[in-house]
Amino acid sequence: MSEKLEKARLYEIEEAKNIPQEEKPAFHVSAPVGWINDPNGFSVFKGKVHLFYQYHPYSRDWGPMHWGHSVTEDMIRWEQLPAALAPDQEYDREGCFSGSAIEADGKQALIYTGVTTEKLPDGKEEVRQNQCLAWGDGKDYVKAEKNPVVTGDMLPEKCSRVDFRDPKVWEDNGTYHMLVGCRSEEIPGQVVLFSSKDLKEWKFETILASNESGKIGTMWECPDFFQLGSKRVLICSPQDMKAQKYEFHNGHNSVYFLGDYDEKTHTFVKELPHALDYGMDFYAPQTTELPDGRRIMIAWMKSWDACVIPNSQVWQGMMTLPRELELKDGKIWQTPVREIEKYHKNPCRYDHAEINQETTLCGIEGRTIDLTVLLEEDEFQTFSMKLAANKEYETSFTYHKAENMLEIDRTYCGVTKDVVCVRKLKISNPEGLKKMRFILDRQSIELFLNDGEQVATTAICTPLEAQEIHFYSDKKIHINVEKHSIVKL
Ligand code: FRU
Repeated sequence: MSEKLEKARLYEIEEAKNIPQEEKPAFHVSAPVGWINDPNGFSVFKGKVHLFYQYHPYSRDWGPMHWGHSVTEDMIRWEQLPAALAPDQEYDREGCFSGSAIEADGKQALIYTGVTTEKLPDGKEEVRQNQCLAWGDGKDYVKAEKNPVVTGDMLPEKCSRVDFRDPKVWEDNGTYHMLVGCRSEEIPGQVVLFSSKDLKEWKFETILASNESGKIGTMWECPDFFQLGSKRVLICSPQDMKAQKYEFHNGHNSVYFLGDYDEKTHTFVKELPHALDYGMDFYAPQTTELPDGRRIMIAWMKSWDACVIPNSQVWQGMMTLPRELELKDGKIWQTPVREIEKYHKNPCRYDHAEINQETTLCGIEGRTIDLTVLLEEDEFQTFSMKLAANKEYETSFTYHKAENMLEIDRTYCGVTKDVVCVRKLKISNPEGLKKMRFILDRQSIELFLNDGEQVATTAICTPLEAQEIHFYSDKKIHINVEKHSIVKL
């Protein structure tokens, strides 16, 4: 093991002891110490689900990237393993950036972007991003002798060697495929495909998809590519997008394209993109397929554009709850992994509860809960809920029926910087908002709308004593409410 990795492993054990566990999410993966961003290598290996992540143990801010590592059997109870990779080689000395993992020949292969700098003929230094390989047993990894295995020199001429990262690898019929995010002089964002028989020798195949309209941001980060029902799905996270009404917001977005894929010719005919999440904190998602066939997605529950945490907090970054994906009516629907229901405790239900102006319902409160609210047909115009609330704090979700629009506002959640705090989304179902399922875990609220047709994920930084939930309606309405605490014993 390199000195750098050993140092990180010792550091995380020692420092984690100083972080009060009550300060951290109860059932979402979060930084053991320091900083985490993208999920990496989300995959199944020897019966367990592995999740790696972009990791800088030494401060709560982004820095030279390591890979942190957690495993789980049910996606709710996670066990932290020692850091998996450190930037300890010439070809990755500026960082081990995002990538994926796959089981091959009984071992676990990690494929990641090694970042380094190269001296140009004029003496200037320029960043180089290349794809690298490491082999391991599920805990310890050895980097391949002949790294990098894919370099920017294998790309067509006008493609960037500077922005060429985040390989997603999968296998089918004995061939490995690697999709990498990239840009070129002509096209601001694209994904490029390579293939291999052994993960070591790779061949460039094609530019699989690109931002030919110029409307889908610049660099396409963190691609994923998989079959879902009758469609092929391409996910990517474009930088620098301009807001497009209620669908996309300014800055970093995560989008998906449905399409049809011809595996023989490597042609992907894509439809128009959609947002994957309509909240404020969702980026760089990755998916994996479980042995039972479910396609599960997890994402970084933060945004580059709104990284704000309390000054006292020494760690930063968490993941969303893993979500089950399903293709329905030409769209991706998402629901929390069903395993969460095993941790339901203390149920509290109201049938046909009347809401008129501001109300609370006894027993409906908490910060680690699974809460479902069904709206009955009624003559209201505005229905609103405040969560993680008390006299000082709240995060509100307000539905305006005439516009069929939901407004999320975390202005009063405790943020101490002027980051994005309000987001509006159009409810896709023309019949309106019927059902909201909120998953709260201390510093986050994930809202699944109308059975997962849309999702809105928002990080909050509200002191834990703000436990109240308030309901408001401008006219008398009736709702059904079901709340479960999430308890990991
Ligand atoms: C996305 C990203 C990736 C990169 C990583 C670096 O959030 O910028 O493209 O690999 O983060 O930490």
